[in-house]
Amino acid sequence: MEYIKLNTGIMMPKLGLGTYKSTDPEECENAVLEALRIGYRLIDTAQIYGNEAFIGKALKRTDVPREDLFIVTKVWFRNFGKAYESVIRSMKDLGVDYLDLVLLHWPFGDTYAAWRDLEKLFREGLVRNIGVSNYEPDRLVDLIMYNEVVPAVNQIETNLVAQRKESHKWMEKYGVAHMGYAPFCQGRMDQIFDDPALTALAAKYGKTARQVTLRFLIQSDVIQIPKSVHAERLKENFNVLDFTLSEEDMALLAGLDRESPLIGRPEDPEKVERASKW
Ligand SMILES: NC(=O)c1ccc[n+]([C@@H]2O[C@H](COP(=O)([O-])OP(=O)(O)OC[C@H]3O[C@@H](n4cnc5c(N)ncnc54)[C@H](OP(=O)(O)O)[C@@H]3O)[C@@H](O)[C@H]2O)c1
Repeated sequence: MEYIKLNTGIMMPKLGLGTYKSTDPEECENAVLEALRIGYRLIDTAQIYGNEAFIGKALKRTDVPREDLFIVTKVWFRNFGKAYESVIRSMKDLGVDYLDLVLLHWPFGDTYAAWRDLEKLFREGLVRNIGVSNYEPDRLVDLIMYNEVVPAVNQIETNLVAQRKESHKWMEKYGVAHMGYAPFCQGRMDQIFDDPALTALAAKYGKTARQVTLRFLIQSDVIQIPKSVHAERLKENFNVLDFTLSEEDMALLAGLDRESPLIGRPEDPEKVERASKW
């Protein structure tokens, strides 16, 4: 495994498992168990995914020691007025007595009250790292300027067509680790994996286009959490730690950026309106 050192000094795996839309209880439990067998140690979930209890069952069944795991959840913005209690409930559902990382899921609603709750959980040692998700640089810098604990992580959509270089620059400036989501664009843009430049690189390194994509993002210092519930894909997505893209090939892939996130646009007022109905 490759790791990134967070601003707390804690080492976080750079590759883990995403679980959004993994909502079938048995399928989710089995996918997590299979991932742990393959070697995944970081599991990403969220209160809104409705699967913390299924993941908890897998964590109970695995023989991987708790201290080797890195469990991440996110507080839904409807819980921002009661974030502390909601995290305690998440811990219960996951069957753990501490969490490795808890994020504010979106910068909507009473984010400041929620952040103070996370700071309290952090000081009490119940949560080892606290962070945010879907924060654009302006919101991130604002949070840092007017609070005590600097987020350890900001989880934002990051993939070949939305590489988020401007966001990355601001995160780097304040020591906030960049965690990406939707590395495969949630399956909404599979044509990207037929891009001739990408398929040529895949052939060159003896890997698939998706493996080259994950490798590119990991080498760009973006933590990866591809989601799958299929054993073969879990293996494919994990098998990206045994090769290195050359500087030239990294530059070539950087050229595919269109700076166009598909999902994570919290600065869009229409998105904020829609989110109020989520
Ligand atoms: N913070 C946020 O707001 C936020 C938002 C979205 C996601 N996330 C997190 O980030 C994780 C990853 O993002 P995502 O799940 O939205 O999208 P993603 O990882 O880009 O794509 C997942 C889709 O790709 C398919 N897939 C996975 N591996 C594949 C492979 N090797 N070949 C072909 N298809 C493959 C999966 O299908 P199968 O499962 O059927 O294999 C699934 O349909 C989430 O699961 C979640 O934990 C966070």
